[in-house]
Amino acid sequence: MTMDTEPLDLRPERSKCTSEFADNDKRNNGACNAPEVMSKRQMKKMIKQKQWEDQRELRKQKRKEKRQKKKLERQAQLGQNVEGIACKRVRREIHPSTLHIIIDCSFDHLMLLQDVKKLNKQIRRCYSENRRATHPVQFYLTSHGGQLKSNMDEYDKGWINWKDIHINSQHYKDLMKSEDLVYLTSDSPEVLHELDETKAYIIGGLVDHNHHKGITYKQALDLGIRHAQLPLGSFVKMNSRKVLAVNHGKLSV
Ligand SMILES: C[S@@+](CC[C@H](N)C(=O)[O-])C[C@H]1O[C@@H](n2cnc3c(N)ncnc32)[C@H](O)[C@@H]1O
Repeated sequence: MTMDTEPLDLRPERSKCTSEFADNDKRNNGACNAPEVMSKRQMKKMIKQKQWEDQRELRKQKRKEKRQKKKLERQAQLGQNVEGIACKRVRREIHPSTLHIIIDCSFDHLMLLQDVKKLNKQIRRCYSENRRATHPVQFYLTSHGGQLKSNMDEYDKGWINWKDIHINSQHYKDLMKSEDLVYLTSDSPEVLHELDETKAYIIGGLVDHNHHKGITYKQALDLGIRHAQLPLGSFVKMNSRKVLAVNHGKLSV
C-alpha cells in the first residue's frame, strides 16, 4: 500500500522566510532558504505561546479572586461588613502581664549586617505578637543602637512610633535591679520550670549561628545574675541543639 499523504508542515502562519533566516537570505542574494519544516525549538515555543494565551482568562480570574480576598481581609481588619459598612469591633479583654521580657541588643558589634537584618525581623515578629496578645508582657529592647538601630531607621522607620515597648539605649543592668533579672540561655544548667511574674527575663539579641557559644551564659555569670534554660526537652522534640532564635525564645516564655 502506498502512502500518498504530504509530510506534516508545522510552519507558523507568517512568512516561512523568518528573521531567523534573514541573515542567511541576505548572504544568498535574497533567496529564501528557510527549511520547509518547523524546528523542534520553534514548535516548543509555539506550543508554549499557545498555552500562555489559552490561560489568559484563567490568570485574569485568579487575579480577580486575589484582589477580592485582599479586599475582604482589609474589611475584616477595619471591622466592616461585605457592603463596606463599619460594624462594631469585637472587643478583646486585654490583661497585661507584669512579667518583663528584655531583648538584650548589646551584641550588635559581633554580628554581620545580614544577621542584624534577621534580628531586626525577629524583633518585629516579637513586637507584633505582643501587640496582639491578650496577656502582653512588658517588652524591652536594651542597648539599642549600632547596626540594628541604623537598619531599623532605614527599613523599619515606623519603629519610633511603636507602642507598648520600651526601647532604650541603656544596658539592662542600668535599668533593672540585678535580683529581678534572669538570663535565658541554653547553656545554663538550671531549667526554668515556672515563670515568675515579678522577674525580667532576658533574651540575647544575637543571631550568631552558635559561633559565640556560651556568650550569654558567661555574661550572666560575670554580672552575677540568675540564668536558666527553657525546658524544651519536656515540650519540644529537638534533633540536636536546644538553641532557639530570639522570637522563638520569647514565644516559649
Ligand atoms: C540564637 S540564640 C543565641 C545563642 C548564643 N550563642 C548564646 O550564647 O546565647 C538567641 C537567644 O535565644 C535564647 N535561647 C535560645 N535557646 C534557648 C534555650 N534553649 N533556653 C533558653 N534561652 C534560649 C537565648 O537568650 C539566646 O541568647
